[in-house]
Amino acid sequence: MESSVSGSSEVRKMPTAVEAKIAPSMLSSDFANLASEAERMVNFGADWLHMDIMYYTLHGPDRLIGVNLQDGHFVPNLTIGAPVIASLRKHTKAYLDCHLMVTNPVDYVDQLGKAGASGFTFHVEVSKDNWQELVKEIKSKGMRPGVALKPGTPIEDVYPLVESENPVEMVLVMTVEPGFGGQKFIPDMMNKVRTLREKYPELDIEVDGGLGPSTIDEAATAGANCIVAGSSVFGAPDPAHVISLLRTSVNKAQKTV
Ligand code: DX5
Ligand code: ZN
Repeated sequence: MESSVSGSSEVRKMPTAVEAKIAPSMLSSDFANLASEAERMVNFGADWLHMDIMYYTLHGPDRLIGVNLQDGHFVPNLTIGAPVIASLRKHTKAYLDCHLMVTNPVDYVDQLGKAGASGFTFHVEVSKDNWQELVKEIKSKGMRPGVALKPGTPIEDVYPLVESENPVEMVLVMTVEPGFGGQKFIPDMMNKVRTLREKYPELDIEVDGGLGPSTIDEAATAGANCIVAGSSVFGAPDPAHVISLLRTSVNKAQKTV
């Protein structure tokens, strides 16, 4: 998308700044009170609710039951699945930004679509062979496709997915190793964000892991506009203040684009 800026004698094309989306990570919420936690975050000013779906599976990419446990698991944790998303959907209209940390994301497209997920972000590391089919499926179920990459994965791996005729609409740059909240932000990942922003001025670029008041400026100036924040929001005495601070930083950085 481009907007025209008319001067007295010229019409210039300017890139449209991307919008800030602040997404508290519900992984840091009280799971026993998910509906009220979601409502609280929306009232505090959240744009999206980030839902970390981690599944401890007994089959690997080859779908053989009983593969080496380490190889078969995407992350060493287990969180929520489609039934919980479906329950939460009954209590909120919020955009549910689902981050799939599972070995076979294609297995969850149908059930998450039916459950009312809004965004479906899968990891590139486990989707090398079927991302085209996956993106098509995600869109056909009315969800917005995104691709995530772990800290060790080169940024070039996501280019084909962004440049495809049927592209993903967001890239999630992991700024910690996926699996748990409350870890330390990895500043080196900002090189990936900068590279992406230079290449794709209008792409939604999400960062996830260790974001908060002390790291947001670095992420925002690198070009990130979708900000996931778990412990820094839920652990704050004034979560609304943190959400607003994250938004201000993104908006300020976008103005200078
Ligand atoms: C980690 C998850 C994150 C996590 C972020 O695997 O993808 O969404 O909740 O938590 P904080 O913001 O506490 O690092
Ligand atoms: Zn996440």
